[in-house]
Amino acid sequence: MANIIDGKAVAKEIQKQIKEEVDGLERRWGLTPGLAVVLVGEDPASQVYVKNKEKACREVGIKSVEHVLPATISEKDLLAVINQLNKNKSVHGILIQLPLPAHIHGEKILDAVSPHKDVDGFHPVNQGRLLLGGGTGFRPCTPLGIMSLLESTRSEIKGKKAVVVGRSNIVGKPVALMLLEKHATVTLCHSRTANLREEVARADILVAAIGKAGLIRGDWVKPGAVVIDVGMNRLPSGKLCGDVEFDAAKERAAAITPVPGGVGPMTICMLLFNTLKAAKDSLQRER
Ligand SMILES: NC(=O)c1ccc[n+]([C@@H]2O[C@H](COP(=O)([O-])OP(=O)(O)OC[C@H]3O[C@@H](n4cnc5c(N)ncnc54)[C@H](OP(=O)(O)O)[C@@H]3O)[C@@H](O)[C@H]2O)c1
Repeated sequence: MANIIDGKAVAKEIQKQIKEEVDGLERRWGLTPGLAVVLVGEDPASQVYVKNKEKACREVGIKSVEHVLPATISEKDLLAVINQLNKNKSVHGILIQLPLPAHIHGEKILDAVSPHKDVDGFHPVNQGRLLLGGGTGFRPCTPLGIMSLLESTRSEIKGKKAVVVGRSNIVGKPVALMLLEKHATVTLCHSRTANLREEVARADILVAAIGKAGLIRGDWVKPGAVVIDVGMNRLPSGKLCGDVEFDAAKERAAAITPVPGGVGPMTICMLLFNTLKAAKDSLQRER
């Protein structure tokens, strides 16, 4: 029976450390880390995400300022808002809540965010830095959170076979690179992978980031594996569940994240971590 990895507890511990560092910045430099959250339109799910992010910021002493813009805003006007935020010295991090309305070219908007303020880690400069290795850029929050959860299990990554299912730019690809950086032997699977079951069955570390409820069957999981389930799927009953068949998988895995309560709390926590890093980096650049 697996150890259930408590994402809430891990996140709480890291948030405590972040708060101490935020307080220290304030005391020593009079600097309050600032996060600008840009919300375009009135998507109810996005509104909830933004509120949760603001609450988490408040709890650790980060000043978050919401910029709510109408869904009809032109791309040019949105770019002007981002340029202002790029120049604003009290703003250390900029978060563009996705999805953006269809008439706006998402890539153009994300590329306009200064790489120094890209706390989501989506800018090509930061994605490129991750690819090249070295620790200076911002890394996307969910993969960072996944790596912290793995660290919390104290299981070795070096030399292990890691299988990541899902190759999105925000989860699958970056987490595969981070696992590679930690010397795992990484396989990255996707919808055209020939025999997913066989690939999964070889994984000492399995990361599922697909978005399909229970696609990874419990009996595919290698006995003793560490399983990180990123999926967040709403069942017709309203219940939230992951990409891995949890009840069966937990009988085989050494450790497994639940959904909810696993990766989810870590994502917001890493946004706080990146915003603190952005504030600290700004001090370094000014010195
Ligand atoms: N907890 C959190 O904080 C958090 C954060 C981010 C995402 N999520 C959740 O994580 C899940 C994935 O998110 P995402 O943004 O990475 O999704 P995404 O962009 O839709 O990517 C899904 C990936 O899964 C692959 N896939 C789809 N069907 C497959 C199949 N039958 N077999 C193997 N691979 C398959 C796709 O392959 P192709 O590339 O071939 O299409 C794609 O690479 C979602 O449930 C999302 O809600 C959670």
